[in-house]
Amino acid sequence: MKFFVDTADIAEIRDLAATGLLDGVTTNPSLVAKTGRRFTDLVAEICDVVPGPVSAEVAATDFDTMLKEAHLLTRIADNVAVKVPLTPDGLKVCRSLTADGRMVNVTLCFSAAQAILAAKAGATFVSPFVGRLDDIGTDGMELIADIVAIYRQYPAFGTEVLVASVRHPMHVVEAARLGAQVATVPPAVLRQLFRHPLTDSGLDRFLDDWRKTGQTILPGAGDGR
Ligand code: G3P
Repeated sequence: MKFFVDTADIAEIRDLAATGLLDGVTTNPSLVAKTGRRFTDLVAEICDVVPGPVSAEVAATDFDTMLKEAHLLTRIADNVAVKVPLTPDGLKVCRSLTADGRMVNVTLCFSAAQAILAAKAGATFVSPFVGRLDDIGTDGMELIADIVAIYRQYPAFGTEVLVASVRHPMHVVEAARLGAQVATVPPAVLRQLFRHPLTDSGLDRFLDDWRKTGQTILPGAGDGR
């Protein structure tokens, strides 16, 4: 399973990239707005830090303008994945870009029917928003199960399921259980994945006992605290 981080905060991206666990980045207009940065400069910087796919979303909604924006974005770096909305024009742009060998992330997917259309348009990734579906009282993970099952019937589709709008670690675990290829995870949730109270208390106990031995592993070092 691939982990993308869902943020446009370059400091967070650098920090998480250093873990070696990051396979890509997703941004959206709301995340970019929070940074106050110029979008194209930000995308260039993120693409330098993370070699995997970096999703950068178009801002227009009509085919011609979206395609022009997409071409400008793809010129920034080879690892830009153009993010387009799941609309008829968005899918036309998707088809045109993927025919040219570019990566496309079709976003704002809320139904299995939409995911089928994205795959037929040749999307590299489809982004179903699980958290926003949970927010309206439905089960976002049920949609992931449906899409994964449908795509398995048609190996020629080649579109990866990118679980988006992730709110907590169980969304990630369930996405993995279902066989989704990618989860894009906010930085705080990515960090939560590391944590378990028994890991913390277990480590404290080991360190206390180690200190009692009076030994050091490295010659001349302290006890590591
Ligand atoms: O980037 C798309 C998606 O992950 C947004 O998440 O939390 O705004 O629903 P959220």
